[in-house]
Amino acid sequence: MIGSREMTTDMRARHGWVVAAAVLTMGLVVAAQQPPPATTTQGGRSSGPGRSTNLGNDPKGNPLRLALETGHVSNYDESKVKPYTLPDPLVTTSGKPVRSAEVWVHQRRPEILKLYETDIYGRIPASAPKVQWQVTGTDPSARDGAAIRKTIVGKMGDAADAPQMTLTLYTPAPAKGPVPVILLVNFRGGADGDPPVAADILSRGWGYATVVYQDIQPDRINTFDRGVIGVTLRPGQQQPGPEEWGTISAWAWGVSRILDYLATDRAVDATRVALFGHSRLGKTALWASALDDRIAAVYASCSGEMGAALARRDWGETVDDMAQNFPFWFSTTFQKYVGRWNDMPVDAHMLIALSAPRPVFITGGTADQWADPKGEFLAEVAAGPVYRLLGKKDLGVTELPPLDTPVIDGDLGWHYHTGPHAATEADWKAFLSFVGKYFK
Ligand code: GCU
Repeated sequence: MIGSREMTTDMRARHGWVVAAAVLTMGLVVAAQQPPPATTTQGGRSSGPGRSTNLGNDPKGNPLRLALETGHVSNYDESKVKPYTLPDPLVTTSGKPVRSAEVWVHQRRPEILKLYETDIYGRIPASAPKVQWQVTGTDPSARDGAAIRKTIVGKMGDAADAPQMTLTLYTPAPAKGPVPVILLVNFRGGADGDPPVAADILSRGWGYATVVYQDIQPDRINTFDRGVIGVTLRPGQQQPGPEEWGTISAWAWGVSRILDYLATDRAVDATRVALFGHSRLGKTALWASALDDRIAAVYASCSGEMGAALARRDWGETVDDMAQNFPFWFSTTFQKYVGRWNDMPVDAHMLIALSAPRPVFITGGTADQWADPKGEFLAEVAAGPVYRLLGKKDLGVTELPPLDTPVIDGDLGWHYHTGPHAATEADWKAFLSFVGKYFK
């Protein structure tokens, strides 16, 4: 089933910035596996009197959006992509080449991580609460007896009314020992949150777990007083500090707390936990994996702008759109890159490389040009040198391979499906083959 989503945007002037206030109507929520086609989902109503950011679609159905601050309109023409130079992941900020794994691990990687913290997603504050986990239910014969289902509730902070996240964990009923797990950070729960390959996962002897992202932090403007961020704000404080977390960092924080729990569950092999996220949650998955190297593998589906897609490549969504429509996903400092994408000290290839040497699998869909699948592919190629430096295998190709043909021989994996903004069954199958190389 394909869900649908609407997004309306309402702009306000705040702190001298023109900051977009985006209101996501999640009434018709998006399934993690099968969200709506991009062409019907990128909304954008206006900000100032009469100015609409939604310019409709191009003749191919790609969304055309206006960024108010810069006047930028979405591009889908290769001849109009201006040349760009990516920052070199293997040159330090002070200009020194990175020639060893040691310099990468101890110097360059921390530098890049810090840049993402201060300038893009925002740092998780030290005041982030502890989470108390409690198993609240067990079904020994879930999925027609194929799985044991556990419900585990994590209370964020000590307050009686502290927000809670619910984790649902399925492990194969016949398992004798701890099993690898695929963790899905999802748009919605229940059976709709299950991966389309759930039976396959279980029959391989692996488990899967799901959490609904808005348990951790609401996905709406002006809701910093709620979720985990709300727990950390001081009385009278409206929003996190300028370099502190937006909602993507908050969701990533939640993933780490789930990893804490999984490490205590004897049914789970916590050294083999892969993380899946789609779209904004694909961005979240990449960032969570950068922050937490207990994540053994990442599957970022259609993650697009400020996920796996190169921001410098002007195709589909841009930094300008994103800062306008989803300011709360990022730190406030991210706003400074509106119209200045080439000045960002980072780009998507570096976000991907922060997971190295761990395996990363990236997907795009032909009908999801808003997310710039080619830009995702190019970022993955450009992350290759870091993988090679660490003794791992890059993607193995530098030109876009044929559609619907998984590229999974290396430690970086790729699949470009024909079809919508979704994690398709074919994507999932390719991912299982890819991660199967590590989950032996
Ligand atoms: C919007 C947004 C994308 C995001 C997507 C989603 O389309 O512009 O960046 O990935 O929502 O999360 O579904």
